[in-house]
Amino acid sequence: MTSRVLVLGSSGLLGHAFMRALGSKATAVSRQDLDGAATKLPTDDDIVINCIAHTQVEAAEDEIEQSFYANAFLPGCLAAAAARNHQRFVHFSSTGCYGTGQSDPWNDYAEPVPTTQHHKSKLAGELEVRHAHPAPLLLRIGWLYGQPPEGRRDFVEMIAAQARSTDQIYSDPSQTGNPTCVDEVVLQTMHLLAQDVSGTYNCVARGAARRIDYVREIVQSLNLDTEVVPAPEGHFKRRAAVSPNEAAVNMKLHFCNNLVMSEWDAALRRNIAERNI
Ligand SMILES: NC(=O)c1ccc[n+]([C@@H]2O[C@H](COP(=O)([O-])OP(=O)(O)OC[C@H]3O[C@@H](n4cnc5c(N)ncnc54)[C@H](OP(=O)(O)O)[C@@H]3O)[C@@H](O)[C@H]2O)c1
Repeated sequence: MTSRVLVLGSSGLLGHAFMRALGSKATAVSRQDLDGAATKLPTDDDIVINCIAHTQVEAAEDEIEQSFYANAFLPGCLAAAAARNHQRFVHFSSTGCYGTGQSDPWNDYAEPVPTTQHHKSKLAGELEVRHAHPAPLLLRIGWLYGQPPEGRRDFVEMIAAQARSTDQIYSDPSQTGNPTCVDEVVLQTMHLLAQDVSGTYNCVARGAARRIDYVREIVQSLNLDTEVVPAPEGHFKRRAAVSPNEAAVNMKLHFCNNLVMSEWDAALRRNIAERNI
């Protein structure tokens, strides 16, 4: 791809992955570069990739304004600025937006009925972006891991640290999702941009995993013998009523020339083997 790309939220997990993958084709925009309503974006780039988000699901129950600002209002402003510049606009939402209506993995056509302030703000962001830009690319993703920016830890590193400091860790056996490597999200985004498509797509690793299986796979891949046991009910004191089923299937990616993502466990093992954790 020869286009120039503007990456917003480049200090975050996904934004950092785009910066790594795109190298000299990418320009980072930091929080400080944006004015309050983000009315202007640099015009030299063909594609704007927005990785900005308020991602703290628990905190969002109290930080409603901050959450709706970063996840809904700001994406709308950025999408409008990109539309004025005739730039393509890529934005990320969450499979957590689908809510609690079923226990099977959600396909892209299911109606989102979010249950937390965070997911309500993410769904509001989708609507703002669709309203502000004629042909945005929206990807619903979830349970991300991957090489984090300097000074930050991803979920894998947090579990590694926990597993190295104790003989037994608790994990949630009731929550289901798709542990997804940021590098695969970057790859699929690039494929979709190359095909010049727009619309809303699930973009998650193949296969649903319970949180406890995800944590066990991390511990085993690191050759640690820490026991991972089901957390008793009420062990994790959560304010946000996160759906127990955030797992999805990529029906529309398959329609798009059969774009296929890796099985979650194979991708996780590969990523851990490549990293110095
Ligand atoms: N991580 C996951 O498991 C997950 C799951 C579902 C969906 N997603 C979506 O994937 C995308 C990327 O997430 P991520 O995990 O990479 O997030 P992240 O690591 O938390 O990074 C968030 C980025 O947004 C920036 N930011 C936050 N509030 C801002 C504001 N008010 N103004 C300007 N910049 C602001 C942060 O900048 P600072 O460094 O300056 O704070 C940071 O660069 C988001 O749309 C997220 O909702 C992620």
